[in-house]
Amino acid sequence: MHAIEYYRNEFISYLESKTTTKEPFNLYEPITYILNLGGKRLRPVLVLMATEVFGTDYRKAMDAALAIEVFHNFSLVHDDIMDDAPLRRGRETVHERWDVNTGILSGDAMLITAYQLFENYAGPTFRDLAQLFSKTAIAVCEGQQYDVDFETRDDVTVEEYLKMIEYKTAVLVGAALKMGAIVADASPQERVGIYDFGRNLGIAFQLQDDYLDAFGNPKTFGKQVGGDIIENKKTYLYLKGVALGSELERKAILDLYSIQPKNPEAKVASIKEIFLSSGAAEQTKLAIANYTESAFKTLSELDISPEKKALLHEFGANLMKRKD
Ligand code: IPE
Ligand code: IPE
Ligand code: MG
Ligand code: MG
Ligand code: MG
Repeated sequence: MHAIEYYRNEFISYLESKTTTKEPFNLYEPITYILNLGGKRLRPVLVLMATEVFGTDYRKAMDAALAIEVFHNFSLVHDDIMDDAPLRRGRETVHERWDVNTGILSGDAMLITAYQLFENYAGPTFRDLAQLFSKTAIAVCEGQQYDVDFETRDDVTVEEYLKMIEYKTAVLVGAALKMGAIVADASPQERVGIYDFGRNLGIAFQLQDDYLDAFGNPKTFGKQVGGDIIENKKTYLYLKGVALGSELERKAILDLYSIQPKNPEAKVASIKEIFLSSGAAEQTKLAIANYTESAFKTLSELDISPEKKALLHEFGANLMKRKD
């Protein structure tokens, strides 16, 4: 095994060698733009690490890693259209810099490119990767639809929210690890075990993403702080604010989440105030810690060497310290 940074650097070199802007320029330029904007490269690093965890050279997993990062970036391009988001990784979103139609079609081409990359694998590996990918990509669509549906509902439960984030985010994190296990031809039990670790980590990761969306530092977060509040997203912060707030606080949240003011600064400030005073912010931090612990418990039960567990543990711990 290598250090986490090593896998990230190896992946970035590979990505750069594979992204070229060809004709038609207006289709491919936005793809090169979003793929080179940076980002944490979490999912491809997980693919490469899992491959080595199960005893195979990470270089065999490069195309699977690239496929998952291209898919992730596709989902961000379309997500930013759906969320009306102006900023991504500190820069303009694709649909802001170009237009919505460009975001749709360049996104479509990315999704297809991701699929195509699996063709570089033979026989059963190709079959297993493609099967996992299709199942995961459909779940992400379902999660995204729940997320949008919840914007206009005021009776969303914590259970529904957890299912939504599992689908839109956590399954892809689990799938990244499982893809590594597939490339390494790991056993069915090993595939399930590593997937489960990723799924729990992914839930913690999305809870934290929701927390940072409200309380992140605008200088380092890279996205519009307060974006979820502006879009009336039913996050864990919102659900806990409604559940724990005083009668007055609850009424204020429900009122503010039923409007979309042109100048949302006052709404964002009031809501953040209530998230803090009601204890919702504290409860969210607690939930992040609990899901991270569940992930680490799953990790501890895997039948892999202590050294390999330590590296995956380090990855999870770093993730929970993130500011962007
Ligand atoms: C953003 O994912 C979308 C979520 C699932 C929260 P990341 O936070 O991994 O995005 P980048 O790739 O690092 O920008
Ligand atoms: C992202 O959820 C999930 C997918 C892109 C599939 P968010 O909408 O919270 O992601 P960010 O915050 O825009 O990165
Ligand atoms: Mg979004
Ligand atoms: Mg979204
Ligand atoms: Mg978010």
